[in-house]
Amino acid sequence: MNNIFEVSVILPTRNEAQNIAPIITQISNVLNENNLSGEIIVVDDDSSDGTAAIAENVSKGCPVRVFVRKGVRGLATAVMKGFELAEGRVCVVMDADFSHPLERIPNMVFPILEDKCDMTVGSRYVSGGGCHDWPLIRRIVSRGSGLLAKGVTRLSDPTSGFMAIRRELVADADLDPVGWKIVLETAVKVRPRLIEVPIVFTDREQGESKLDTKVQVDYLRHLFKLYLHTYRGFARFTQFCIVGLSGVAVDTLALMAMVEIVKFDPRMAVVVAFLFAVSWNYGLNRVWTFKEFESKRYSYVSFVLISAVGLGIRVGIMHLLLEYAGMKAGRLYIIASFVGILFASVFNFIAARYISFSDQSKKTGSIEVPSKS
Ligand code: GDD
Ligand code: MN
Repeated sequence: MNNIFEVSVILPTRNEAQNIAPIITQISNVLNENNLSGEIIVVDDDSSDGTAAIAENVSKGCPVRVFVRKGVRGLATAVMKGFELAEGRVCVVMDADFSHPLERIPNMVFPILEDKCDMTVGSRYVSGGGCHDWPLIRRIVSRGSGLLAKGVTRLSDPTSGFMAIRRELVADADLDPVGWKIVLETAVKVRPRLIEVPIVFTDREQGESKLDTKVQVDYLRHLFKLYLHTYRGFARFTQFCIVGLSGVAVDTLALMAMVEIVKFDPRMAVVVAFLFAVSWNYGLNRVWTFKEFESKRYSYVSFVLISAVGLGIRVGIMHLLLEYAGMKAGRLYIIASFVGILFASVFNFIAARYISFSDQSKKTGSIEVPSKS
């Protein structure tokens, strides 16, 4: 990856006609004063007030590129476009309305250039940070929104919009934000070494905020996705267990049908019922639990075998508990059966996850032969 500059400052804009020229000039000055080589990338979502044209005509200072998106909107994806276009070692993301203190850019960038961390986040909620002139209600909403994210990040200010990151970490990261929160998305998905830099947030003087109810609803949807992402393993195991429970019902129905309609001997019927239930489980896991995994050639056969081994584990553990742990007494056999089911489920899940449904795309990725060029 070629880094032509030390810093790429990414400015997402929508109707910032009054702010864009002075902010470009002042960012240039700050970079200059600190001997940082840099570029500014404006990603404008088709502003109706001429923001893009004004940005293109700012002549003094560091190189400016303006990218206009038509028909799409959204702060976070605009910033991702900026990551794609950037050619600096470090990407800085900030609002274009002077809300984030420009003079903190060096504090955001140098820790990364000096390899003390990979990402910095401007935080209002570490000592030295704050919000200038914010009414109580806004502080409460802001704090509350931050609290909701505590399960996915340790950032003290998860809704901050001011960050810097080593560009190689976002160049091909798998980012999929909803709405505005690119900082949170990056912190959760990339898991970089992080330092929080105290900042004082000042409300804009020119133009108006675009933060509306939709942005807040998007934030909740985004959070939901991030929680699923963070607890994916656990969520998947829960899905697997739900499928397994439904399989017990299928097993029972098939057993009854075999005995009462087909007139099979019950001992023969359980084998057939087992195959029915396992096939049912396989199908549901294919389309639900492991839906993002590609189909493998022997995945069905391996799933049946794994389930059979699982059954063996269940009976084996039950046997041990009954014989050697004194669980023959009274109704303790039910507990023994549950312990058996638990162990078998964990085994089945891990084996299904890594054998029957294992992710092929990743495997081919790792054995890829580098092309000669
Ligand atoms: N490209 C693009 N597309 N830019 C956008 C869009 C969009 O759809 N919406 C807003 N922007 C730009 C604005 O032009 C501005 O530069 C920046 O994103 C922030 O937008 P504001 O409308 O000024 O947001 P805010 O001041 O209410 O919210 C800021 O502070 C919050 C903390 O209270 C943002 O930094 C939020 O991320 C932050 O949570
Ligand atoms: Mn603002």
